[in-house]
Amino acid sequence: MTEKRENWSARSGFIIAAVGSAVGLGNIWRFPYVAYENGGGAFLVPYLIALLTAGLPLLFLDYAVGHRSIGSPPKAYKQLFKPAETLGWWQVCVCIIIGLYYAGVLTWAGSYIFFSLGQSWGADPEAFFFKTYLQTSSAAGFDFSFIGHLFWPIVAIWILTLVILYGGVKKGVELSNRIFLPLLMVLFTILVIQAVRLPGAVEGLNAFFTPDWSKMMNYKVWLAAYGHIFFSLSVGFGIMVTYSSYLKPKTDLTGSGLIVGFANSSFELLAGIGVFAALGFMAFSAGKPVQEVVSGGIGLAFIAFPKIISSLGAGAELFGILFFTSLFVAGITSMVSILEVPIAAMQDKMKWSRKKAVSVIGGGSAVVSIFLFSSTNAIKLVDIIDHFINNLGIVSGALVSIIMVSWFKRGLMRELEAHVNHISTIKLGRAWEFTLTIVTPVVLLSTLLLALFALIQNGYDTYSGQLLGWFGWGSVIFCALGALLMSKVHDR
Ligand code: ALA
Repeated sequence: MTEKRENWSARSGFIIAAVGSAVGLGNIWRFPYVAYENGGGAFLVPYLIALLTAGLPLLFLDYAVGHRSIGSPPKAYKQLFKPAETLGWWQVCVCIIIGLYYAGVLTWAGSYIFFSLGQSWGADPEAFFFKTYLQTSSAAGFDFSFIGHLFWPIVAIWILTLVILYGGVKKGVELSNRIFLPLLMVLFTILVIQAVRLPGAVEGLNAFFTPDWSKMMNYKVWLAAYGHIFFSLSVGFGIMVTYSSYLKPKTDLTGSGLIVGFANSSFELLAGIGVFAALGFMAFSAGKPVQEVVSGGIGLAFIAFPKIISSLGAGAELFGILFFTSLFVAGITSMVSILEVPIAAMQDKMKWSRKKAVSVIGGGSAVVSIFLFSSTNAIKLVDIIDHFINNLGIVSGALVSIIMVSWFKRGLMRELEAHVNHISTIKLGRAWEFTLTIVTPVVLLSTLLLALFALIQNGYDTYSGQLLGWFGWGSVIFCALGALLMSKVHDR
């Protein structure tokens, strides 16, 4: 017997879960370093443009698709337009890939809560992070030597994620968000207040808000902004389609969407302010400009914060615990939402029970993730997979979902618009249609093609062809094959 499809207990449950999904590692760990690498304050301009022209319009589109079709992405898109089931599976596969490395970064965040207690990183947090903790391999290619102290924490992360998911939509996802989200808000607010009061904070904020306009001419900055907005808002890869499918029939979709979008970006800016205020303090302590003390990249949170904590003296432990617990709490609710997509998809397609879907999809992902991210290649794989899956996987899935309705199925777009307007306070209209038909497709298509050529020609960073091939291109090929295969399987 098939299980009854669950609903959120109330609209507030949905909004909390959607904010919980949106606010994640993306806001605290990813945004500050992506912003820093892409022109600091100048990044805020493409960021805001991306939010208004693509993030929010796509959020409304995702809501409309999930809510109208009452299904996870493959089912929802198929109902709208049969061949589009493939697009749904593409997004499902993107989620599976993101879940693998998301658990890896969550493991670091969780471990650093404990490291904060004794400031285990010692005098050189950078060497500690790369060498002592992650034991990063110096080999250019495959090297999956096992690291015991990464293994147990990542196992624990997966157990926690699966326990929440076994609980289902109401008693698992919604309940955990109702507990974790307020906790996060309290912890993070205390952290930011502490950070901006540190000596030198203003210098850090200047570095964050002072634009490097020359970077604005670079298409990579724009692609990074769009890719990040999608990742951060959880749009374009199925999460919001899935979450809105659990809504009751009469729900204000645009009103909810604006709350979620506003909450997410506010939190992101707050995170940027907190992180850069702290970096300002770090520069102040070292007597150097901010630019000289910050090494960007994915280690930013795990290197800069320990340095800051070490130079804080009194209250250092509390500061560290606040930061890494926030990171962890924000991440776990997003991790749950990422996994919810493939789980819901298998429930819809194969009529699997919740338990079976969580066990097979969650269990299978856990095994691969634990193997990859308790190895000496962990950080390289996070960097490579994150880069490829964001810039190619998410962006292309988002682009296809947009042009499908705005270029090829205009009637469908109008139906979705009417569906949203019928039940929502703020109505979609010309502006929504225009951004989805012209602005977003043009920006996404051009930046995507440029990025694709650049990746083909130059690779990414200094990583070896072997790693890029298997994990970067491999992730994209996995999504393509998964999408083609799954859409051929008959529904149960
Ligand atoms: N939206 C989630 C994040 O920002 C995936 O981390």
